[in-house]
Amino acid sequence: MSKIQKLHTEIDNFVIDSAETLEQYRLQFLSKKSELQSLLSDIKNIAPEERKQYGILVNELKQKVQIVYDQSKEKLESSVSYSVGLTDVTRSAKGIELGGLHPISIVMNEVCEIFEAIGFSRVPGPEIDDDWHIFSALNFAEEHPARDMQDTFFVHTNPDIALRTHTSSLQVRVMENEKPPIRVICPGRVYRNEAITSRAHCMFHQVEGLYIAEHVSFAEMEQTLFYFAKQMFGEGTKIRLRPSYFPFTEPSAEMDVSCNICGGAGCALCKHSGWVEIMGCGMVDPNVLENCNIDSTIYTGYAFGIGIERMTQVKYKTNDIRLFFENDVRFLQQFQTVK
Ligand code: PHE
Repeated sequence: MSKIQKLHTEIDNFVIDSAETLEQYRLQFLSKKSELQSLLSDIKNIAPEERKQYGILVNELKQKVQIVYDQSKEKLESSVSYSVGLTDVTRSAKGIELGGLHPISIVMNEVCEIFEAIGFSRVPGPEIDDDWHIFSALNFAEEHPARDMQDTFFVHTNPDIALRTHTSSLQVRVMENEKPPIRVICPGRVYRNEAITSRAHCMFHQVEGLYIAEHVSFAEMEQTLFYFAKQMFGEGTKIRLRPSYFPFTEPSAEMDVSCNICGGAGCALCKHSGWVEIMGCGMVDPNVLENCNIDSTIYTGYAFGIGIERMTQVKYKTNDIRLFFENDVRFLQQFQTVK
């Protein structure tokens, strides 16, 4: 027993203040030939009635030896200065700043993923397109006032080439190239010559959807869009379809979702109506099907065009569309999932 006490005192008096003294300590108290080891192996020679008590004391000592070693080592390591000349090598490395997806991209992807999960496939298309794909094939008559509805950026006139004013030009491109059944989703940028305000911009984003098959009904469209709204904004979301007009769909509608900023009570985003308009939709006009060489006596279908900026505003409760394009990191950082 006195040996144990002696070792305690030795440990208490041992000064560890350098790598060398730490190593001396290790050899003296922790190595195979240390006194502690012989105390441990002595256990079998101790009288049975004392063995328990002895075991407890030796184990305590063993733990103390190890703790003193570990703590001293840690202390020494953290106090070592690694400074070399003017370079402070102990300074933490400069973190790599990770970027994140733009809120518009996040929402656009989310929209596409919801539709992809129910069988739609994502299709890209040109932002600069000709008159046929943007207007004529979509049933806009040559002098139709509807053409004036969209103030267009022309890249070339006669033949007319323009920045697409909507993603509906992709409906035509897909129907020209594929046979029904067709089920596509087309995300992208669109351009209109509009004054920039908190609610409108000359460049924005849409996701076009198109489903053409036999016996597709308006009711099917409504249920699909209702399903989409619930996936996007949550189970309790309501939708409302209002009659509207587009040259390329008949009948046509605008779809509103219940405003999730004010919960339907009325706020600035929903203009105090409780509803926010997020898309135009309707049954594809038979003339459009025929323009794309699809037999309108066999096939029917629906199309929709979702406004992504509006949806992003509803989802993230932002109040000015211009924020999306000013590229102010203080705004954009708030949508980052990885920091
Ligand atoms: N292209 C229309 C717009 O930009 C939206 C729409 C798409 C309407 C498809 C009906 C069908 O406003």
